[in-house]
Amino acid sequence: MQSVPLAVRGSAVTLIYGDRVAFRSSDISIPAGRVTAVIGPNGSGKSTLLNAIAGLAPLADGLLEVLGTDPLSARTRTSYVLQATKVNDRLPVTVREVVTMSRYVDRGAFGIIRRPDREIVDEALKRLDVAKLAKRHLGELSGGERQRVFVAQGLAQLADLLLLDEPLNALDLVSRDLIIEAIFEERRRGRTVVATTHDLSEAAKADHVLLLSGGVVAEGAPGEVLTSENLARAYGIEIVEDESGAPLLDDSAHNPVDERHQHFDRTGRGEH
Ligand SMILES: Nc1ncnc2c1ncn2[C@@H]1O[C@H](COP(=O)(O)OP(=O)(O)OP(=O)(O)O)[C@@H](O)[C@H]1O
Ligand SMILES: [Mg+2]
Repeated sequence: MQSVPLAVRGSAVTLIYGDRVAFRSSDISIPAGRVTAVIGPNGSGKSTLLNAIAGLAPLADGLLEVLGTDPLSARTRTSYVLQATKVNDRLPVTVREVVTMSRYVDRGAFGIIRRPDREIVDEALKRLDVAKLAKRHLGELSGGERQRVFVAQGLAQLADLLLLDEPLNALDLVSRDLIIEAIFEERRRGRTVVATTHDLSEAAKADHVLLLSGGVVAEGAPGEVLTSENLARAYGIEIVEDESGAPLLDDSAHNPVDERHQHFDRTGRGEH
């Protein structure tokens, strides 16, 4: 990892809600120009970590450097596609308007959207196969279509760092493939992508993996991180292995992190 420049570098990053530690003191390194998967059970801190990287949640302790600066200063170069469950789908805006909004990051709120912006928006709509839905309102889309629109919005920002919170959740195969293709195309374009997932096989395709359980349990190449032992530590369950000895994670149960994992003291010395 030393040889690869880092897009995100965190040391002793600690994140809290009120007096409750949601993410205990952990070091983080996310390689630039690569795809990083963040995996862990419900409540393990995936969204909380993305919020911090996106500059939306201050650190309770530690240091977090994003694109060579602090998360807040990196915000215009970071694009964040929220977890679908957190998005208001009743906004009275069309698909094209949603994707066009991303261009105001460069143009400013009163900026003028010019032809190059429109071309960027068109390309993003096409890549996620939602161009034909451009005039529809968000509320007139299926959940999967809406998710593709938000990923298109994320792409159209042309940000150096793309954060995707569960972009593959509850999607059919076609939508999943479109989004996976978009993720790896972003990597080909030199961007850094961080995507949270509950899918072990998707995480295994990433260049780098962060396994969370109220903090970082393991970090590194997929083969090093996604071992039965690490997964058992993170999920608190026995991990079944297939004939080849590869871990199989039945996360359909979406096991919440055990309460024991969540109550860490503020010094981050909590153990799981
Ligand atoms: N706004 C909030 N206020 C208080 N606690 C919160 C808030 N958001 C999350 N938490 C708590 O912080 C912890 C981490 O939550 P987070 O949303 O980061 O988990 P996650 O890994 O993204 O889970 P999921 O897979 O369900 O999306 C959980 O214990 C959760 O209950
Ligand atoms: Mg989440």
